[in-house]
Amino acid sequence: MAKNVLITGASRGIGRTIALTFAKAGYNVVINYTSNIEAAQEVVRLITSNNADAIAVKGDVSKDSEALEIVKQATDVFGPIDVLINNAGIKRDGPIETMSEADYDEVMDVNVKGAFSMIKHTLNHIPPKHPLKIINITSGTGIVGRENQVNYAISKFALNGMVKALAKELGPKGITINAVAPGLTETDMTEYVDEAGKQAQAERIPLKRLGTTQDIGEACLFLASDRSSFITGQILPVNGGLHGA
Ligand SMILES: NC(=O)c1ccc[n+]([C@@H]2O[C@H](COP(=O)([O-])OP(=O)(O)OC[C@H]3O[C@@H](n4cnc5c(N)ncnc54)[C@H](OP(=O)(O)O)[C@@H]3O)[C@@H](O)[C@H]2O)c1
Repeated sequence: MAKNVLITGASRGIGRTIALTFAKAGYNVVINYTSNIEAAQEVVRLITSNNADAIAVKGDVSKDSEALEIVKQATDVFGPIDVLINNAGIKRDGPIETMSEADYDEVMDVNVKGAFSMIKHTLNHIPPKHPLKIINITSGTGIVGRENQVNYAISKFALNGMVKALAKELGPKGITINAVAPGLTETDMTEYVDEAGKQAQAERIPLKRLGTTQDIGEACLFLASDRSSFITGQILPVNGGLHGA
């Protein structure tokens, strides 16, 4: 029987490619989005036209009640979730001196609380001994930090902390949790970096190119598969070998 994957923020960018990658591998796919219904439906259409199954579920993960609804809807349609990928994330960059309380709170609420709520509700909607696999999408910024991104950096370090703590807490139940930490990957989120900036970043990377969304999708597929069954509590950088953000 096909396994079920729920990906938050899967209407665009990295989440979209993760969704298409898992569909190709035979998963039923739940595509969460918060506002962009056309983009989410397009991902569903691409998947279902290739003989796999997918649904789009609207919900803002930063609101605990909506996170609960996302999990309920996914479970009602496909049954217990086998793989949860906390991918939804936002940035509100700027120097700390002028960073507003709202910019701090919004990033924490979506990036950190969103993943916390999604994990909590998913755990409460699976049968005992169900070998759930959880993947948090973090960032190189959550390993080495980056200027003008203190809120984002804190959020990604927190997601990595969640991985470390929950690997210990959930391991005895046969549940694994890991993080995939992308380097600069071309999506709407990185539109602010101009071509010269991207070129300069690629030069700093040992493999001499930027990451693609497919690179991240393949890493997630590995961490969701039985090939990684003894791996938990790990942060996997997918960044071409760059030791810096
Ligand atoms: N791109 C990079 O270079 C890079 C590098 C390191 C880490 N990352 C991480 O990778 C993840 C994906 O990034 P991306 O570049 O693909 O981002 P993106 O292109 O900006 O897409 C963001 C996705 O998240 C959804 N989303 C935003 N807020 C949400 C909320 N409150 N609840 C549910 N969904 C929400 C969006 O839905 P709508 O379409 O409905 O708005 C969209 O599907 C993020 O966690 C990011 O921090 C990215």
